[in-house]
Amino acid sequence: MAERFYVTTPIYYVNDVPHIGHAYTTIAADTIARWHRLCGRDTRFLTGTDEHGQKVMRAAEKLGRTPQEHVDITVQRFARMWETLDIQYDDFIRTTEPRHQEVVRGFLQQLHDKGELYAKDYSGWYSTSAERFWSNEEVAAAAWLALKNPGYPAEEAVGRLQQGELVGRCPDSGQAVEWITERNYFFRMSAYQERLLAWISDHPQSIQPESRKNEVLGFLRKPLEDLCISRPRARLSWGIPLPFDEEYVTYVWFDALSNYVSALGPVGSPLHQRYWPADVHLVGKDILTFHTVYWFSMLFALGLEPPRQVYAHGWWTIKKEKMSKSVGNVIDPELLVSVFGVDAVRYFLLREIPFGYDGDYSPEAALLRFNSDLVNDFSNLVHRIVKWSDVALAAPGPLAEPEAELLTVAARATAGFREQIERYQFRGALESLWTLVSAGNKYVDTHAPWALAKAGNTERLAEVLRALRETQRIVVSHLACVCPRACTDVLARLGLDGPDLRVAFDVLPSGSRARPGDPLFMRLDNEPTLIALGGAPAAPPTAPPSPKKETPMSEPALAPSTITYDDFAKVALRIGIVLSAEKHPNADRLLVLKVDVGEPEPRQIVAGIAKVYEPEILVGKRIVVVVNLAPAKLRGVESQGMLLAAGGSDVASLLTPLHEVAAGSIVK
Ligand code: MSP
Repeated sequence: MAERFYVTTPIYYVNDVPHIGHAYTTIAADTIARWHRLCGRDTRFLTGTDEHGQKVMRAAEKLGRTPQEHVDITVQRFARMWETLDIQYDDFIRTTEPRHQEVVRGFLQQLHDKGELYAKDYSGWYSTSAERFWSNEEVAAAAWLALKNPGYPAEEAVGRLQQGELVGRCPDSGQAVEWITERNYFFRMSAYQERLLAWISDHPQSIQPESRKNEVLGFLRKPLEDLCISRPRARLSWGIPLPFDEEYVTYVWFDALSNYVSALGPVGSPLHQRYWPADVHLVGKDILTFHTVYWFSMLFALGLEPPRQVYAHGWWTIKKEKMSKSVGNVIDPELLVSVFGVDAVRYFLLREIPFGYDGDYSPEAALLRFNSDLVNDFSNLVHRIVKWSDVALAAPGPLAEPEAELLTVAARATAGFREQIERYQFRGALESLWTLVSAGNKYVDTHAPWALAKAGNTERLAEVLRALRETQRIVVSHLACVCPRACTDVLARLGLDGPDLRVAFDVLPSGSRARPGDPLFMRLDNEPTLIALGGAPAAPPTAPPSPKKETPMSEPALAPSTITYDDFAKVALRIGIVLSAEKHPNADRLLVLKVDVGEPEPRQIVAGIAKVYEPEILVGKRIVVVVNLAPAKLRGVESQGMLLAAGGSDVASLLTPLHEVAAGSIVK
C-alpha cells in the first residue's frame, strides 16, 4: 500500500469570523496535503470546528437561538471560506457531531476506569471569557498591566490581590476574574512528566521548529500539575456530559483535542488503523502547550501514540499588533481574494514569511509580491510564448547546451522545492522554484522565439518551444499545490489533465500544441488597489523590473484595432454607487445590483462577478457603468446597463474611481 500521510489543522472556534490567521494554517495544510497527494501518498487532510463552550452558549442566547441552531449557522462561515480558498479537505469534523461525542465519552470512561481521573475541590481565579482558571501571579500581572503601572513587583501585586486591593484580570481578555471554589474532575497529567520528556528526547522531530520545542521543554522544567477536565453543568451546559457523572461536562480542550482521533472513527476502526498517528498537527504558536503537553499525556493515558509531529507557526500581526475583532484590525481573506484572486492570496501568505515566525501583514507588501512575483515573473513566463502556442513540438532529441543548462537549473530548483516543502518551509520552497521561473524568463530573452520565427528557423523554434513548454510544465506541476487554479489552467493549455512532476524535457508528446489563454495575473496599480484593500495609498512600491522590459528583443504587444473618437463617444459611461447587491436567483455566476447613476431611479444591473465579489462588500462602492446599453434579460432578470471590469472573461477587478466623485459623473 502507498505510504500514507495524515495532516490536520486546529479546529476553529465556530463563533469567530475567519480571518487571515485561520486561513494561513488551513492554506498551509491544504498545500501540504495537495503535495503529498501529488506524490502518490495515501493522504488525509482534516479540518473542522470547535463548537462547545461558554462563549458559544452566550452568543446563542443573545441571538435567541439554541446553541445547536447557532453553531449550525456559524459553521457555514468556515465552510464557505474554505470553498473560497480552494481548500480540499477530506473531512470536516464538528465537535457537536455524535461521531465525535461518542469517542470523547469513550475516552473519558476509559480514563475513569483506569483511575486516571479523580474528583476534588478546587479554588482559583476563574475567567468566564477564557473559560479557565488562572494562578495568582497571572491575574495579578494582568491587573498590573491594565492599570498601566510601570514594572511588575510580583510579590507586592499578589499581596494586593489577596488583600482585595487589586482586581485580578484575565491575561487573555483583560476582564475581571472571579474567585470560585468548585468540585471538579482532574486528569493525573503530573504522572506523565518523565514520559513526556523521554518521548521528546527520543523523537526530536515531534515538536518543531526547534525554538518551539525548547519552549515546551522550558514548560516541562516546572513540575507538571494535574489537569482539570470538567466544568459543572450548572455553570456550563453546552458541552459533552461526562459519562460517569452527568452533572459535569468536559473541559473544551479535552473535547477539542480528541477530534484528531475521533474523526477517524473509534480506535481500531479501519481509518484509525490506516492513519493514526497523524503525521503532523499544524497549529499556531499560542496553542502549542495544549497540543504537546496536554495532548501527548492524554494519548499516553489512553494507550495511543502521539502524533509524529506538532508544527507551530507564528502569527500574522497588523502594524506589529495582534489582530483582534475588538481592535477592528482583522484582515478578511475574502477581501484579499476579491482584489488578488485566490491563488495569489495563497501564494502571498505562504511566500511572505518563513513558516514558524511571526510576520506583519501590509497591503503594500501583498501588492508588491503580486506585481513582482506573480505578474512580472510567473505570469510572464507563461504568457510570453503564447503566440507560438500553435507550433507543434518536435520529437525530443538530445539536448543542446542551453537546454541542458536550463534542465540543470530545473533539477536543482525542484529538488530544493521538494526538500523544503516537506519540512513546511514554504517560503524557501517557493524561492527555490522561482530560480527556475527566472531562468525560464531569461531563456526566452536569450533565445528569442520571435526572432527565430521571423528568420523562419522553424527547427530551432520547435526546440526552444519544447524547452519552454516543459519548463512551464515543471513549474506549474510543482506550484499546483500552492496556486491550484492558475496551474490547472496552464496544464490544460499544455494539453495535460494534471501535474506531472518529472524533471525532463521529453515529457510532452511530439506534435503536441498548446492552447492560448489570457494572462494569468495582470498588473495592479498601486493607488486603486491599496484603496480597495482598505489602506491609504502610500509611497508606490516598486517592483523589480521585469526582464522583459530590459531586452531590446522583447515580444511585440498585441495592438487592438483602432476606432475613431466618434465611435468611442457613442458609449455613455457614468459613475454609479452600488446601493444593494444580491445573488442572482438562477445563476451562481451573476449578481443583481441596484446602482445609483444620478437618475431619479436606480438602475438594476446584472453582472457576472459573483465568483469574485461577495455581494455585501460591493455596497457603497463607486463603479463605472455603461448607461446606454440596450436593456437585456440575463437568466430571466433585466439588466439596464453594464459594469466595467478588468480581467477579460475572468473578471479580476471592478473599475473604481480614485476619488469620491458623485453618482452620475460622466466618464470619458
Ligand atoms: N479551538 C482552538 C483550537 C482547538 S484545536 C484542538 C482555537 N481556535 S482558534 O480559532 O482560536 O484558533 C485557531 C488557529 O488560528 C490557531 O492555530 C491560532 O494560532 C490561529 N490563529 C489565530 N490568529 C492568528 C494570527 N493572527 N496569525 C496566525 N494564526 C493565528 O484556538
